[in-house]
Amino acid sequence: MKTKITELFGIEHPIIQGGMHYVGFAELAAAVSNAGGLGIITALTQPSPDALAREIRRCREMTDKPFGVNLTFLPARVPPDYPGYLKAIVDGGVKIVETAGNNPVKWLPVLHEAGIKVIHKCTSVRHALKAESIGCDAVSVDGFECGGHPGEDDVPNFILLPRSADELRVPFVASGGMADGRSLVAALAMGASGINMGTRFVATQEAPVHQKVKEAIVAATELDTRLVMRPLRNTERVLNNAGVERLLEKERRLGSDITFSDIAEEVAGIYPRVMKDGELDVGAWSCGMVAGLIHDIPNVGELIGRIMRQAEEIVAERLHGMLGRR
Ligand SMILES: Cc1cc2nc3c(=O)[nH]c(=O)nc-3n(C[C@H](O)[C@H](O)[C@H](O)COP(=O)(O)O)c2cc1C
Repeated sequence: MKTKITELFGIEHPIIQGGMHYVGFAELAAAVSNAGGLGIITALTQPSPDALAREIRRCREMTDKPFGVNLTFLPARVPPDYPGYLKAIVDGGVKIVETAGNNPVKWLPVLHEAGIKVIHKCTSVRHALKAESIGCDAVSVDGFECGGHPGEDDVPNFILLPRSADELRVPFVASGGMADGRSLVAALAMGASGINMGTRFVATQEAPVHQKVKEAIVAATELDTRLVMRPLRNTERVLNNAGVERLLEKERRLGSDITFSDIAEEVAGIYPRVMKDGELDVGAWSCGMVAGLIHDIPNVGELIGRIMRQAEEIVAERLHGMLGRR
């Protein structure tokens, strides 16, 4: 399957693994790229720019296919060393960067001068248009159903994708709620040139996270996610658990007086405890509604192969057959 995204990034299949804190290590990125998709290392999971440089080298030892690095600009009490991370990306010869969170305009000249293609993750048409206008090469459009930060507009992909198609000139991928060949065909039908998946890739053999995390995603249904930090305008969709219930109770009790320090216990430093140690109940960790469509823990090659086969079958047989019967 050839799309504007496979051509832009030089990949075989229009499937991207979005950056994921404490999940997007070299093992997963390399597995996705080796299977013909685009794997992405998450920069800020690495404790320093030097560590990111080593992770990029490790990934290159595991794959000779293109892979990318995610650079997330989210509110942080102590801002990370963004120039240092950027240097590690450029010096490491990475040619694709996924930016997310704030507007990446400040960093685009350095990236483009190094011949790096930038795909910016957005949760609204206006932000996608902004990304296009500042020179991003592509955008990833994250609907309300997505795991992680869906923004504050709450527009699901059935509306957001065709709206994006109507407005954008740069290619875009559909992100949020994507799991299988049906998702891919639907995304293409709505004007996207591929899909970006987060939660689905966590429940794979190669994702370097605790087995309990993968099993929790398989066990969860589409009813098991919650939105946290809405009062702080930093909404995150997470898997419900005891820590999340406690956090939501604080949000109800403190109302608009709530501050980050009130919920730090359920939010700060949670990812390594969940993803490495399997302490699932300590607090908020991202998970999409798509958990309801995830029933197994395949290896990445099987997953991508299955998505592509199902998508081709839907297009060539089911949809084509419908026209044939007219
Ligand atoms: C565990 C987890 C951690 C994530 N961490 C990040 C992150 O650090 N930066 C980022 O840009 N997106 C992050 N995301 C969002 C994903 O890249 C992707 O946009 C999202 O998961 C898509 O929705 P889906 O989960 O329904 O596939 C994370 C998602 C998950 C599930």
